Amino acid sequence: MLKQTNYLTKVYGLPEGWKLAAYERECDGYQTAKKVLTTMSQADVVNEAKKANIRGRGGAGFPMGVKWSFMKPHPTKPAYLVINADEGEPGTHKDRTIMELNPHSVIEGCMIGCYAIGAHVAYVYVRDELHLSKARLWDAIKEAKAKGYLGKNPFGKDYALDVVVHTGAGAYICGEETSLLNSLEGKRGEPRLKPPFPAQSGAFACPTTVNNLETIAAVPSAFKLGCEEFSKLSSIHHLNDGGVRLFGVNGHVKKPGVWECAVGLTLRELIYDLGGGILGDKPLHSIIPGGSSTPVLKADDVVHAPDEKSPLHAWHGKSVLDVPLGVDTFRNMGTMLGTCCATVMAEGTDPVACFHNLMQFYRLESCGQCTPCREGSGWLFRIAEKLMEGTCSMEELNTLHEVANGIMGNTICAFGEGTAMPALGYLKKFRKEFEAYVKGQRGTGVLNQMETSWGGRA
Ligand SMILES: Cc1cc2nc3c(=O)[nH]c(=O)nc-3n(C[C@H](O)[C@H](O)[C@H](O)COP(=O)(O)O)c2cc1C
Ligand code: SF4
Repeated sequence: MLKQTNYLTKVYGLPEGWKLAAYERECDGYQTAKKVLTTMSQADVVNEAKKANIRGRGGAGFPMGVKWSFMKPHPTKPAYLVINADEGEPGTHKDRTIMELNPHSVIEGCMIGCYAIGAHVAYVYVRDELHLSKARLWDAIKEAKAKGYLGKNPFGKDYALDVVVHTGAGAYICGEETSLLNSLEGKRGEPRLKPPFPAQSGAFACPTTVNNLETIAAVPSAFKLGCEEFSKLSSIHHLNDGGVRLFGVNGHVKKPGVWECAVGLTLRELIYDLGGGILGDKPLHSIIPGGSSTPVLKADDVVHAPDEKSPLHAWHGKSVLDVPLGVDTFRNMGTMLGTCCATVMAEGTDPVACFHNLMQFYRLESCGQCTPCREGSGWLFRIAEKLMEGTCSMEELNTLHEVANGIMGNTICAFGEGTAMPALGYLKKFRKEFEAYVKGQRGTGVLNQMETSWGGRA
């Protein structure tokens, strides 16, 4: 259901909307943090947060309040809040808008989040090339400090709070939370084995919560409205997927962009109502729903959920374009909501070229620690190269399944699944097109470098 909102985006587009004055005037800036810090206990904040049903906006969709509840006070070590603003997922471009246009929502969210988990410092990890994002965050921190919101006694409360921006050199794998923590500590950005999870041993071996930047920026709005009320804004609140969030669309649409809407928007609304429809009014071919790691959907895919207990049952027999964009709804369709920024492809796009493009990306970005990922991503890419060159045999095509399945579940971090799932998705949905390549009947794909949102060679 298309319900545009402006909790987070109210100051987007206003003159100097990113400044403290605009945040205070338009969004009652910092009044929610004041109320939380001066009237609520830390346990109450966590319990209230759970009611918001904010599913992590970084890709995995873990409930934010539940994650906060994993933090237990340590007898000797401090706790940390770490904000993931790496935003390296191809096709994803939402966190950047918050940093550039409403950075104070991040600071206020960090204040509430820190208080809830018993931390006094939040690190915001931003990739270095986002110069405007860094500058706007630094300025916002300066303004918040000058006003006494950050510092030793925010709102007269004896609870010191600080927010620090840390820049990373910009590697896709540094968005994975434990790799990010290593990078934050000045180490090589390689994922850590889990357990221990960050809540037990995170930044500097201390209890840590890692939240995506949009996740934390949603917190002031949720607490201002009342977390349950916030959750109910979503049309799939009953599926524990609440509130409002940023929806992005890119690729072959007339108006690529980012909008804030109530959770429950459909792909059809995102592509046609907000994105203005397909370039050149061509038919829709396929959609990668939430970043390159999420398996592709075909335009004519239909929901199959005859089981009444399935969260998708209400959409059984309907087009996938009419299913609300939700964490569990999309997982049950065999894909993922991911970062909720969809990449749209028009009729004429060559799925084999897309596959090749994706496999090139994953081959380059694997950190190389685990054999199945390091070698598997290489195999997948080499076979993709052979397909494109017209030298791939049917046997090699079948090997793709074996290699992708060999990666799944056998790696240190979820990058492995992020590589294998889109590969298997393309193979399943476009088997005919892959076989045509093997038989020397290349597709007439129109995908070119300009049109790939992740900028690789097609
Ligand atoms: C390869 C890889 C890259 C990731 N990149 C990002 C990223 O750029 N931003 C992000 O917030 N989460 C990213 N994640 C997810 C994080 O590991 C983590 O789940 C997330 O930051 C938690 O925040 P959330 O619960 O608020 O979503 C990535 C995960 C993987 C496996
Ligand atoms: S799965 Fe890939 S990216 Fe993740 S730790 Fe292993 S080699 Fe590195």
